[in-house]
Amino acid sequence: MHIVVTKDHTTMSQKAARLIADLIQQQPTAALVVATGNTPLQAYQELASLVQQEHINVSSLQPFQLDEYVGVAADDPRSLYGWSKRAFLDPLQLPAASITRLRGDLDDTAAACRDYDRAVHAAGGFELAILGLGPNGHLGFNEPPTRSIDPTRQVTLTPASLASNAAYWGEQTVPEQALTCGMNHLLAARHIFLLVSGAHKREILWQTVKGPVTEEIPSSYLQQIANITIIADHDAWPNE
Ligand code: GLP
Repeated sequence: MHIVVTKDHTTMSQKAARLIADLIQQQPTAALVVATGNTPLQAYQELASLVQQEHINVSSLQPFQLDEYVGVAADDPRSLYGWSKRAFLDPLQLPAASITRLRGDLDDTAAACRDYDRAVHAAGGFELAILGLGPNGHLGFNEPPTRSIDPTRQVTLTPASLASNAAYWGEQTVPEQALTCGMNHLLAARHIFLLVSGAHKREILWQTVKGPVTEEIPSSYLQQIANITIIADHDAWPNE
C-alpha cells in the first residue's frame, strides 16, 4: 500500500492525474474503471490538460463504468453513465460509446451484470481502478457487508449512501437500488488509485488503512493489496 498525502485537494488532483497519465502512456489500451462522485472531478480535468499538453494518445483506452442506479435511463443527467460521460469522457474527448456501461436501465439487471462481467473478462481484467471512498467504506456501490469475492451485482443502498448521494439529487429521491462492479474485479485490478479528500472522510479512511479487514468496511480489503496507491489530501489524512 503506497500512501501519498498532499497539502490540499488541488495537489491531490494533480498528483492523481500525473499517475493516471503515466500509466496511460505505458498502457495506451488499458481497461480502466472510473469512479463517479465529486472527489475525482478535478483529477479528470487535470488529466485532460496533461493529455493535451503532452499529446498522450487516449483513443484506445477502454473505460468502464463503476456503478449505476437501477431504473434510471442513460440519457437522464442523473445517471452515473451521464456523470462518467461529463466528468471523464468529455474532457478527454472520448466518444460516449467508448465506455462499457453497467445497464441499470435494463429490466433484466442480472443480464446487465453478466454482460459487464463478460466485457471485463474479455479485456483481461482492469489495468487500473480509479476509486473514491464511500462514507461507509463502499467502493463503487459495494455496500457493507461485501465479501472480497463478490461479483458484479444489484445491491440495495444503505442509509449512509442514500444520505450522501442525496447531495447529487437535489429534491429528487435517490434510487435505492444500484448495480456495482464486483469487488472481485476491483481487487484484481493491476493498479488501484484511491482518491480521498476532505475531513468528512478522515474517520473512514482511518478504518480503511488501519482498522480490521472486514466485510463491514469493504475498503479495508485494500490493506491486502500490494499495488494500491492512496492519494489523500491533508484534511482526509488521519494524524496518528
Ligand atoms: C458514491 C459512488 C462512488 C464514489 C463514492 C464517493 O456513492 N457510488 O463511486 O466513489 O460514493 O463519492 P464522493 O467522491 O462524492 O465522496
